[in-house]
Amino acid sequence: MSEGIDEPDRPEARAGEGRDLFSKFDDLIAMREGLLSTGQEDPFNLVMEKVLSPTRAICNGRDTILLGTYNYMGMTFDEDVIAAGKQALEDYGSGTTGSRVLNGTYSGHKACEEALKEFYGMGHAMVFSTGYQANLGIISTIAGKGDYIVLDIDSHASIWDGCAMGNAEVVPFKHNDIEAMDKRLGRIPEGAGKLVVLEGVYSMLGDIAPLKEMIAVAKKHGAMVLVDEAHSMGFIGEHGRGVAEDQGCLDDVDFVIGTFSKSVGTVGGFCVSNHPKFEIMRLVCRPYVFTASLPPSVVATAATSIRKLMHGSNKRAHLWENSKRLHQGLTGLGFELGTKEPQSAIVAVIMPDLERGAAMWEALLKEGLYVNLARPPATPANMTLLRCSLCAEHSAEEVETILGMFERAGKAVGIV
Ligand SMILES: Cc1ncc(COP(=O)(O)O)c(C=O)c1O
Repeated sequence: MSEGIDEPDRPEARAGEGRDLFSKFDDLIAMREGLLSTGQEDPFNLVMEKVLSPTRAICNGRDTILLGTYNYMGMTFDEDVIAAGKQALEDYGSGTTGSRVLNGTYSGHKACEEALKEFYGMGHAMVFSTGYQANLGIISTIAGKGDYIVLDIDSHASIWDGCAMGNAEVVPFKHNDIEAMDKRLGRIPEGAGKLVVLEGVYSMLGDIAPLKEMIAVAKKHGAMVLVDEAHSMGFIGEHGRGVAEDQGCLDDVDFVIGTFSKSVGTVGGFCVSNHPKFEIMRLVCRPYVFTASLPPSVVATAATSIRKLMHGSNKRAHLWENSKRLHQGLTGLGFELGTKEPQSAIVAVIMPDLERGAAMWEALLKEGLYVNLARPPATPANMTLLRCSLCAEHSAEEVETILGMFERAGKAVGIV
C-alpha cells in the first residue's frame, strides 16, 4: 500500500512503463500515515454505529453528542418526515431508475418543487440529486463562453467545480471584500455576461456575507447574482429563507442554490429563481439531465421537512440561543474562534496546527463529543479547525456539557 511513499519520485518512467498516476498523492499519503502512526484515531473515518437522535449517536461503542453534523433544525427524526418517507417507499418503490427528463419525474418531485416555490416565494424551483450538482449544473450552464463569473475566493468546492466545468472566465476576489469585488466587475469588458456568485454563510468559519452591499454593487455593474444558502436555509431569516432574507435583499437575488443535506435533513439540492426563462434549464443543464432523480422517499421527506421549516420560528430562536451560548462559553475558556460574534449555527475553533487539532478531536471523541476536523485545502488561510455545528435539538444543558468537554480536552492537549 505504501510502496509509492518509499520509492523515489520517478518522473521518467522506463520505456513501456507509464508514470504511476497515484504518485501525485504521495505527499498526502505520507502525511496521513505519519499522523496515524502516532496511534491517532483517523478523524476522517469515523463510523456512526447507531444514530439515536439528531444530536446523539453511538460511535466506538459510546453514546456521543453530535456537534459536527449539518442537521441544524434536527429534522432527520421528525415524525412527519419519517412517515412521509415510509409512505412514499410503499407507494412508489425504492428508486426511480431514471433521469428527471425521462422516467424520473414522479408526483413527489413536483410536490417538492412546489414546496420550495412556496418556501422562497419564487416562481421556479428545480430539484437536483445533490446540492453539489445544483451548483455544478446551474453555474456551468448559465455562464458560458465569453461570460464572466466573479466569485468569493472562499467559495465552496461545488462552486469552483461549476466554474471549472463551464467555459466562462473566472475572476475570484478576496473573501467578503466589497471593494475588491467592485474593482473586478469594473474591469470586465463592456457587454459581456456577468454572474456574481456568493454564499450566505461560509461554512468553514461560520461567517456571513454582507449580501445587501455586495448585491447592490453587482447590480450596479449589471451582473446576475447567485447566492448559495446551503448553511442558512431553515435557520437564518424570519422565514428561514437565508441570509438574503435576513438582510432584506432576497428579491435582488437571481438564483438561490440550496441543499436538502443540511436543515432539510435528507439529501438533494435545488435552485429557485424568478427568471422568466428559467424552465429551459431542465433541458440544457447536464448535471440535471444526465443523472438519476432522487428516490421518491427522499423527495417526500424533503417536501414534508421544507413545509415544516416554514413554521420553525421557535426552533430558529432556540438554535440562536445555542449558538450564542456555545460561542460565549468557548471564548470564555480561552479558545480562539473563527468569528468574534456568533453569526450562524457554525462555531469554528481554530487549532494551532494539524497535529494538535487531531489530538484535540480525539480527546473530544473520548469525552463523548463529535466535532468536525477541517484542514487545508478545505479551510481558508491554511487553518486547522474544529468545526462545531449546533442543532435546534441540542438542549441548553447539553451545550453546558459540551463546554465542560472542551475545557477538559483543551487542558489535556495543552490548547487552553
Ligand atoms: C456551501 C455549500 N454548497 C453546496 C454544498 C453541497 O451540498 P450537498 O451536500 O447537497 O451536495 C455544500 C455542502 O457541504 C456547501 O457547504
